Amino acid sequence: MSHHLVIAENLSYSYPDGTRALDDVSFEIHHGESVGLIGPNGAGKSTLINHLNGYLLPTSGQARIGDIVINKKTRQDIRKTVGVVFQNPDDQLFMSRIYEDVAFGPENLGLPPQVIEDRVKAALSLLNMWPLRDKAPHHLSDGQKRAAAIATVLSMDPDVLVMDEPSSNLDPKSRRKIINFLNEFEHTKIIVSHDLDLIWDCCKRTILLKDGKVEADGPTEEILKNKELLEGCNLELPFRFQGDGF
Ligand SMILES: Nc1ncnc2c1ncn2[C@@H]1O[C@H](COP(=O)(O)OP(=O)(O)O)[C@@H](O)[C@H]1O
Ligand SMILES: [Mg+2]
Repeated sequence: MSHHLVIAENLSYSYPDGTRALDDVSFEIHHGESVGLIGPNGAGKSTLINHLNGYLLPTSGQARIGDIVINKKTRQDIRKTVGVVFQNPDDQLFMSRIYEDVAFGPENLGLPPQVIEDRVKAALSLLNMWPLRDKAPHHLSDGQKRAAAIATVLSMDPDVLVMDEPSSNLDPKSRRKIINFLNEFEHTKIIVSHDLDLIWDCCKRTILLKDGKVEADGPTEEILKNKELLEGCNLELPFRFQGDGF
């Protein structure tokens, strides 16, 4: 299933103002892997995931899904495989009803109406949002909005799910629901978060970015227990290890 590989090869990106946000980033993520992407503010995490669905295109190097290089020509197709949930759900919800937002992607794929309905129902039900399908997005709580934004991506049936800060602004119960959902999602996951306890719970592998470079890449267990490494990146040990002799 090589088309499920997510590959960055010497990927560099500079914004038009000259900020070098990614500097020679390389990694290979295999099908079914769960990968946490962590790093201090400004490390390049959002810039990196914006390359994975072709929203940004590299200044040099490349990002690939299997053999397919992500570029202007391929990015429409890539978005059927890679689903990105943005940090702010308001960037993903723009219709008058949640149902329509979740149906939007499958409709654009030109799927038959019954298939669309089935997908919308499945995506919303998975997140306990089916009863709220007729609500307007701006009438939802933060946690419900986040769940709806995830559903808009799930209805596309992605092989790779990418999420930027899924737990920010969530109350503990909504956060726990997202963690449970992520743990049930069987395909490839790439999760950006400052919430290192969430990364611990959901990701077997962690990539640490700093100043646009890969500072560390390895088993989550090793990286999240490495106090020196984390502190050098303005991060703290997960709560569960704090004050515990670590
Ligand atoms: N649109 C932009 N124009 C110029 N610089 C940007 C832009 N967006 C982000 N940056 C800069 O790129 C670097 C990486 O940002 P970002 O990827 O958002 O980091 P992170 O998500 O890890 O906090 C930062 O130095 C940030 O200031
Ligand atoms: Mg960011």
